[in-house]
Amino acid sequence: MRVGIEAIAFHGPEHYVELADLAKARGVDPDKYTKGLGQIRMAVATPMEDTVTMAVNAARKVLSNFDIDPHDIGTLVVGTESGVDHSKPVAVYVHDALGLRANCHTYETKHACFGAMAAVFSANDWISCGRADGAKALIIASDIARYPIGDPGEPTQGAGAVAMVISDRPHLLQFDPEVRGHYTKQVMDFWRPLYSPTAFVDGHYSIGCYLNALEGALVDALDKATFPERYAMERLQACIYHVPFAKMAAKAHHRHFEIDAGEAIDTESERYVEVRKAFSEKTQRWLSLNAVVGNIYTGSLFLSLIDLLRGSTSDDLKQISMFSYGSGCAASMSIAYPTPGFERFRQAIDPEPELNARRKLSISEYENIIWLHDSLATGDTEELRADEWDLHGDFLYLGNHKHIRRYRGLECGICEARRSERLAASEHQH
Ligand code: HMG
Repeated sequence: MRVGIEAIAFHGPEHYVELADLAKARGVDPDKYTKGLGQIRMAVATPMEDTVTMAVNAARKVLSNFDIDPHDIGTLVVGTESGVDHSKPVAVYVHDALGLRANCHTYETKHACFGAMAAVFSANDWISCGRADGAKALIIASDIARYPIGDPGEPTQGAGAVAMVISDRPHLLQFDPEVRGHYTKQVMDFWRPLYSPTAFVDGHYSIGCYLNALEGALVDALDKATFPERYAMERLQACIYHVPFAKMAAKAHHRHFEIDAGEAIDTESERYVEVRKAFSEKTQRWLSLNAVVGNIYTGSLFLSLIDLLRGSTSDDLKQISMFSYGSGCAASMSIAYPTPGFERFRQAIDPEPELNARRKLSISEYENIIWLHDSLATGDTEELRADEWDLHGDFLYLGNHKHIRRYRGLECGICEARRSERLAASEHQH
């Protein structure tokens, strides 16, 4: 059975910070952020945008852009490390906002940035083993990445959600059922205790953990493959990675290349030219969305996938590798095959027009937003107002009342339209 991604869509906040402005405010050379980390902008969520609103908006887009009936969704999973409640999953708010059927299997997954990839694998297995009975899985990666103001991690923040429909009609991409390598190790590279709104990170150590995990997952994938030579880098037209910041993907590709070549290649060696060439052809081209959105944790790998699918054609894309990393840590290396003809969905998946329409924040506006996020997190609030935040989205967080989160825009056009269609069809049958 062919199983994979039928549909994909991104939704992010309506505001951003220019990293050159942030560098100036922090007394840092702007080149450190733009060239050293490879990041241009970072998306900033206002207090009315949270992991629920971004997940719902991305999900509504994926269903309506690909004309998928919400009634066909039999599994809904949200992967997130920045959920809104210690007990209540983001997924159940999404289930309500989309009007999904009551017998939909709904839950949240967490393992830092790996949470959504874990859900994609489960969905893939659920369909492949025949348990889905024609139903589809809606998998959403939704996160707000936050470090303290002034922390070295600050320029690697971001926010956004990627929603994917996994089914036996993989219009965009099919997963290789055989090649999937895993790696797990308890490390303290990045974590966020329940009491902290911002992450703790041992930055340079986290880079080493990421690269070790890549090696572990790739070696496992090659060990398990019946014909490992089929997965040689020369057969891959694209290698995409988890992208906490664009430069990390360059380091990842370097390590991937070394494992494939079976030798260490340092930056002074003659072969390093080949590493740079392979990086620019197979990876760098697909980092432009990540560079203007920032780290979106669970969704970062899939944002790079969107960039790849919107910018390629089936003639030049036959086989790709996907590396997912979640701090703490868990990782996977897998192989996928873009579906011939996927380019006809380019318009449906391209988020660039929306990203270009975002409003730039001054550094003091951004700092005020961060301060407000923290003060709102402590309990009930006045009702938040969209005009105060210059927001145009339909589905927004309004604040808490009696410790219950309230949202505006619960009515979902697509679900209502589908419900009426189904009703009309069943009346016609009788
Ligand atoms: P830092 O220590 O401030 O930066 O923080 P640096 O001194 O290492 O410089 C960064 C790069 O800029 C270096 O390049 C410098 O040479 C260069 P490299 O040597 O690495 O190639 N540089 C310059 N380039 C041009 N002009 C200049 C200049 N100055 C310096 N003037 C760090 C960097 C990434 C550690 C920090 O931002 C951080 O802690 N970020 C958060 C942690 C992170 O993103 N880790 C990545 C791996 S772990 C992961 O991906 C998981 C994660 O997504 C969480 C999850 O799983 O949920 C984070």
